[in-house]
Amino acid sequence: MSAGKNILCIGAGYVGGPTMTVIAAKCPEYRVTVVDIDKNKIEAWNSDRLPIYEPGLDELVHRTRNKNLYFSSDIEKGIREADIIFVSVNTPTKTFGQGAGMAADLQYWEKTARQILANAEGRKVIVEKSTLPVRTAAAMKRIFNGKTHDASLEVVSNPEFLAEGTAIRDLEKPDRVLIGSRETAEGIRAREEIVAIYAHWVPREKIIESNVWSSELSKLASNAFLAQRISSINSFSALCEATEADIDQVAYAIGTDSRIGPDFLKASVGFGGSCFRKDILNLVYICQGYGLDAVADYWRSVVEMNEWQEQRFVRNMLSSLFNTVAGKRIALFGFAFKANTGDTRESPAIYVARGLLEERAHVVISDPKALENARKDLEDESENVTFETDPYKAAEGAHAIAILTEWDLYKDLDYEKIFQTMVHPAFIFDGRNILDHRKLFSLGYNVFGIGKPFLKH
Ligand code: UDX
Ligand code: ADP
Repeated sequence: MSAGKNILCIGAGYVGGPTMTVIAAKCPEYRVTVVDIDKNKIEAWNSDRLPIYEPGLDELVHRTRNKNLYFSSDIEKGIREADIIFVSVNTPTKTFGQGAGMAADLQYWEKTARQILANAEGRKVIVEKSTLPVRTAAAMKRIFNGKTHDASLEVVSNPEFLAEGTAIRDLEKPDRVLIGSRETAEGIRAREEIVAIYAHWVPREKIIESNVWSSELSKLASNAFLAQRISSINSFSALCEATEADIDQVAYAIGTDSRIGPDFLKASVGFGGSCFRKDILNLVYICQGYGLDAVADYWRSVVEMNEWQEQRFVRNMLSSLFNTVAGKRIALFGFAFKANTGDTRESPAIYVARGLLEERAHVVISDPKALENARKDLEDESENVTFETDPYKAAEGAHAIAILTEWDLYKDLDYEKIFQTMVHPAFIFDGRNILDHRKLFSLGYNVFGIGKPFLKH
């Protein structure tokens, strides 16, 4: 069995941190170490203020830290001591050269592979956790074959399916765990070692085994399908606005068909997050590489629909506000890409804020967890942006409020009180359809939802 093994995770981000915390909690006989090149991040993981917000994470870290979970900056020592190495470094979209704006930037990944190669001795299993282009394991294996002294490094793919804001729940009760390896004796032995970790708490029938390429591609395919559902429902939201149908009623009606299912049919200002856009563009790039242009175009349209939805939201705001927002105070409620996270990567709020700033609005941003990241995202615009934790203060003197993140707290505000402090006519643009639009209308607001009849006084 696998008792007493040393697990290392390279990359202490949104994926590596929570995943290793849950593994440490569920497998007390393993020693789990998480390393990162970012020393500040490691310091934060060792402090009372963790570098990421995730419901349930603080409590689990406190329970396991310095018992069998360690955060460290000594990557080389970590590699030397590990039996199993999870690689969870970032693979952003390339911003330069060939494939710029689409392909995955694998420089961090390759650096890690070379660092493993330089420090590894004996047998180790290397686990791809980050989302990667299909066939990355082959590239990694080629790098590892460059080793001149004694090391046997087997690459296994174990993509992470957790969603931010529900990471701990997703890790503790996953729909499935996917583990792909080569179908050789060595590959299958490595795969079994990873299965043994998850088997501590995941029912065996939920642990799916496959070849490496299926595993790598399934992660891209899952994200593409999920994003496609959102783009599909968002495309219908525009049609609802034109026809006076109501998108929530349409989503309910189609979602009750068991073949379609009810999840991921919430129309919104657009999808954000570190995965969907990046992974789909990466998929598009891969398809082009194989000469599959029709497949590439098909998936690219999912991203284009999302961009269009974000643009449409800003256009609607502008036209409703008498075609000018110059000098007007506009309050944005929520900046995170979804509720229950402080993450703002690819958040539609960034696009909306920039669109309004281009029109010379004064933008006031409120969010319970994401203001620190929002500040970084809009660093270049600091003159015309104010950050305000208190939504009541943010709305004071504003012409409009735009709800951009579905935080529960925005559902229960005293909108009657807020109305009194705003400039009239007052507008609410509900980019997440979380408010009671009829009630707001009766309070005096002009209310615009996504895929809803516009309620104008
Ligand atoms: C996603 C995948 O869900 C996860 O499996 C994968 O591992 C990483 O990418 P994440 O980006 O954390 O997870 O969040 P997710 O819950 O998928 O939401 C992504 C975006 O879509 C958010 O901006 C969210 O607000 C939006 N969304 C989601 C909608 O607009 N409507 C929906 O119905 C669902
Ligand atoms: P994800 O959402 O995929 O977890 P993050 O950006 O949150 O992505 O986390 C990736 C982490 O990987 C970052 O903290 C980054 O500092 C770390 N990282 C990147 N390259 C290396 C490397 N060569 N060695 C160690 N850590 C790395």
